[in-house]
Amino acid sequence: MRIPFIAGNWKMFKSRMETVDFAREFKQLYKDTDVRTAICAPYVHLDTLKEIFDGTQIKVGAQNVHFEDMGAFTGEVSALMLEEIGVDYCIVGHSERRQYFAETDETVNKKLHKLFETSIVPIMCVGEVLEQREAGIETEVVKKQLRRGLSGIEEEQIKKLVIAYEPVWAIGTGLTASPLQAEEMCGIIRNTIDELYSPQAGDGVIIQYGGSVKPANASEIMNMPQIDGCLVGGASLKPVDFMEIIDF
Ligand code: 13P
Repeated sequence: MRIPFIAGNWKMFKSRMETVDFAREFKQLYKDTDVRTAICAPYVHLDTLKEIFDGTQIKVGAQNVHFEDMGAFTGEVSALMLEEIGVDYCIVGHSERRQYFAETDETVNKKLHKLFETSIVPIMCVGEVLEQREAGIETEVVKKQLRRGLSGIEEEQIKKLVIAYEPVWAIGTGLTASPLQAEEMCGIIRNTIDELYSPQAGDGVIIQYGGSVKPANASEIMNMPQIDGCLVGGASLKPVDFMEIIDF
């Protein structure tokens, strides 16, 4: 049985005060459910969120990590530093990092290897851009991201991995992939894990959909058999909306 997993990705939003306000309100609204829940926040807010969510089931994630343990890498944060403050998850390879910060399948791969040396669970993002979907090569693109990103990763590690399918054309645009389009690609991702590892690995891996998920469409998306969760951007910034999605 795959446990549903709904994570928020705050991106570069919220001041410290807004973070505290969100966390207090969300903690009040939150009821223990069978759905795993995490908020992936800017680095500077992770400690605050860990502290406020202490004693609850609400987990905390980072949005990026560097692939070395330490060194002269100005501006970077290591997996060990995140682990030390109790961070539970880390997004890797988000399309915004691929687009604006030179993230490649190779750096995604290095970051995954590094995170697997810690207790932090990686959320690996894959997805095609609009031109690739229009050209009908979306399957090829996503499979290549998986193959390259997972190079050298062992089957034992795959059990700990979360994969998020985020079609880039559906992020922050209000356009959602139709539940069937999302379901189809999540099925292809699962089959790819079958091929690269084993049917058991494919069967166990948690696959999220991300791209304009909101309270109004969450239940339809979550009811798709190949979709185990959502990675929620904009709608995770409001406690009530995010809770409604978790309650799908
Ligand atoms: P939106 O939900 O705002 O479309 O963002 C999706 C996303 O990029 C989550 O990582």
